[in-house]
Amino acid sequence: MELVKWRYRNPYHDRRHERERMFVIGPHTVVLDQQPSEDISLHQNTGFLIWDGGYLMAKFLAERVHVTGKSCLELGAGSALVSIVAHLQGANRVVATDLSEYQQFMRRNIERNVPSQSIEIRELTWGSEASEIGKVDFVFGSEILYLANQHQALLTTLQAVMHTKSVAYFIYKERGLGEHQFTDLAQQKGFRVRRLPQSLLDDEFITEPYHLIQLMYIKTSK
Ligand SMILES: C[S@@+](CC[C@H](N)C(=O)[O-])C[C@H]1O[C@@H](n2cnc3c(N)ncnc32)[C@H](O)[C@@H]1O
Repeated sequence: MELVKWRYRNPYHDRRHERERMFVIGPHTVVLDQQPSEDISLHQNTGFLIWDGGYLMAKFLAERVHVTGKSCLELGAGSALVSIVAHLQGANRVVATDLSEYQQFMRRNIERNVPSQSIEIRELTWGSEASEIGKVDFVFGSEILYLANQHQALLTTLQAVMHTKSVAYFIYKERGLGEHQFTDLAQQKGFRVRRLPQSLLDDEFITEPYHLIQLMYIKTSK
């Protein structure tokens, strides 16, 4: 029998709007709930579906980022797929954050895949008090830059949680909603920004306008 390579967009696996989805990321198989029945638009209930950018970030993390023994923070985690993969890759501390309405959703998905205590679940609205989290080595944010009016708040959160050796990664799809403005604002606020090649992401998405950026916080706040 011929073996068919697992592909993200394999019609037998593509269950974008179903209640349960399976992701194969490196050696890990992660099964997640979605809540597709919620009224979902770009501005509400977005985290109840797993976005392609979330899958791309989880795969990038597993293949390209050495998180073993490091601390990781996920912003706008939704299902917490990236946090789950960070834990499976050996991170020693993982914090999954999102708005209050996603706390149970994150918990359920985390408990489906890893021991419940292995990932901290926290409510975090960008720009609000993040000092309780402390400094982390890596920050991940997938599909959260389309909210251009939140860029300033996001950078405030990054300033609170990044030390001078921390690295933050963002993946976003260009939707013409001002996503690119984040880069200029980040530079003004003391971050060094690098655009990484799209070839570092899953080649199934090479024809789509996905962007990967890396931030380091060079200028510490006074
Ligand atoms: C498009 S979803 C992406 C979810 C997940 N990262 C993924 O890739 O599947 C955007 C996420 O950002 C979160 N979010 C939006 N505004 C936020 C804010 N002001 N503070 C914290 N999280 C926010 C939403 O709750 C949602 O989970």
